[in-house]
Amino acid sequence: MARLSVDIGGELLARACELAAFSEDGAALTRVFLSPEHRRANARVAEWMEAAGMSARIDAIGNVVGRYEGDRPGLPALVLGSHLDTVRDAGMFDGMLGVITAIACVDALARAARRLPFAIEVIGFADEEGVRFGTAMIGSSAVAGSFDRAWLARRDGQGVTMEEALAAYGLDPGAILQAARRRQDIHAYVELHIEQGPVLERQGLPVGIVTSINGVTRLEITVTGRAGHAGTVPMDARQDALAAAAEGVLAVETRCRAEPGIVGTVGMLRASPGAINVIPGAAQFTIDLRSGEDARRRAAVDDVLAAIAAIAARRGVGFRSQVVHELAAAPCAPGLMRQIERAVVAAGIVPFRLSSGAGHDGMTIAAIAPIGMIFVRCAGGISHHPDEAITAADAMAGARVLLGFIENFTPEAAR
Ligand code: GLV
Ligand code: MN
Ligand code: MN
Repeated sequence: MARLSVDIGGELLARACELAAFSEDGAALTRVFLSPEHRRANARVAEWMEAAGMSARIDAIGNVVGRYEGDRPGLPALVLGSHLDTVRDAGMFDGMLGVITAIACVDALARAARRLPFAIEVIGFADEEGVRFGTAMIGSSAVAGSFDRAWLARRDGQGVTMEEALAAYGLDPGAILQAARRRQDIHAYVELHIEQGPVLERQGLPVGIVTSINGVTRLEITVTGRAGHAGTVPMDARQDALAAAAEGVLAVETRCRAEPGIVGTVGMLRASPGAINVIPGAAQFTIDLRSGEDARRRAAVDDVLAAIAAIAARRGVGFRSQVVHELAAAPCAPGLMRQIERAVVAAGIVPFRLSSGAGHDGMTIAAIAPIGMIFVRCAGGISHHPDEAITAADAMAGARVLLGFIENFTPEAAR
C-alpha cells in the first residue's frame, strides 16, 4: 500500500506557499494565463511531477500535464488535477491544492513502486478563472476539445490578443487541437479543491463529496450614452452611460435576490472617457449569474437583460450584451461519488455530500469523461481573497481520501 509522508499536510501547505510566490505583484497573489508567472509555476510543477515519477510536458494551450504509467504503458488514464491560474489578489489554495495533492498521491505510489491497472495523469490547467481574457476554463476546454477559435482574437487589458499571448509563451496557436484528448483515453476526471464556502466548516467535517457544479452565464454589457461637460449639460438633458449602468447593476442584484438558488454578481464596471469633469459617454460592466438549475439561470439572464433594456430605453442610451462564457450545471458521476465516499469512510471521516457554487474545470471535462470532486474545508468559507486558509490536518485528510480513492479506483464503476 502506498503511504503519504507523516507530515504531508505541512508539505502541501509549503508547496502552496512556494507557488504563491509566482505572482505579477510582490504584495499579492495574481497569476494569469500565459504570463511569465504562469510559465514559472508550470516549470516548478513539472519539476515536482518528475520528482514524483511522472513524465511532464506543457500541452498546446499551456496546461502542464504529468503522466504516471500504469502496469503497462499506454493505458487509459484516471485524470486528476485543478488549475494554476488565480484571480487578482487571490488566496493560495484555489486550484493549486488540487494539483499539488494529486502529485503527492502519485509520489506515494511511485515510492511504493505501485503500478495500477490504469495510468494516472495530473493536469495543472492553464486558465480556469478567465481573468486575463474574460472567457474562463480555457485550459480544460482545449483538453475537452471545446476550445472556440474565436477566443484567439480576444484581447487582455493591455490589448494583447490570446493568439499573441500564446505565441509569446512559445506555443503555436494553430496547434491547440493537439491538446484535445480522446474519450477512450480517459476513464474519469477527479478534482480535489477547497470548498470556497462555509458548509463543511458548519458540519465540522474536513472533506466532502461533491454532487454537482452550478451552471454559469457570464455577460459583458456595453452602455452607450453621450459624453459631455459635467458643469454645463443640464441634468434633464444627459445621456449618462454610467448612471444607466449603475441601475443595471442594481437590476442584477434585485432579480437574483428575489429567487433562492440564483446568485448574480457585477464584478467589473468601467466608465469612459473616465474623467472627473466629463459625463460618461460609455460604460461597460460584467455579469456573472449562476444556479444549480439551468432553467432558472436562463430565466434570470432573460429577466436581467429585459430590465437593462427597459433602463436604457427610459434613459435614452443604447446597450448591447455579449455572452462571454456559459456552462451548464455539471452533475458528478454517481459511480465516482460512491467510490469517493468509500475512500472518505476508509479514512475514518463521516461522508457528507454537497454541491459546488463555484465553477471548476470538471464542467468542461464532463463532455469527455465522468467527473468527480472532493472538497476540503477552508476557514470561514473565504476564497477569492488573500485570507483563504486551510489547516495542515485538513490538507492531509484530503490527500488521504484522494490516495485511497486512486488505489481502489474501478474504471468500470466510474459512471
Ligand atoms: C471560479 O473560481 C469561479 O467559480 O468563478
Ligand atoms: Mn477560483
Ligand atoms: Mn478554483
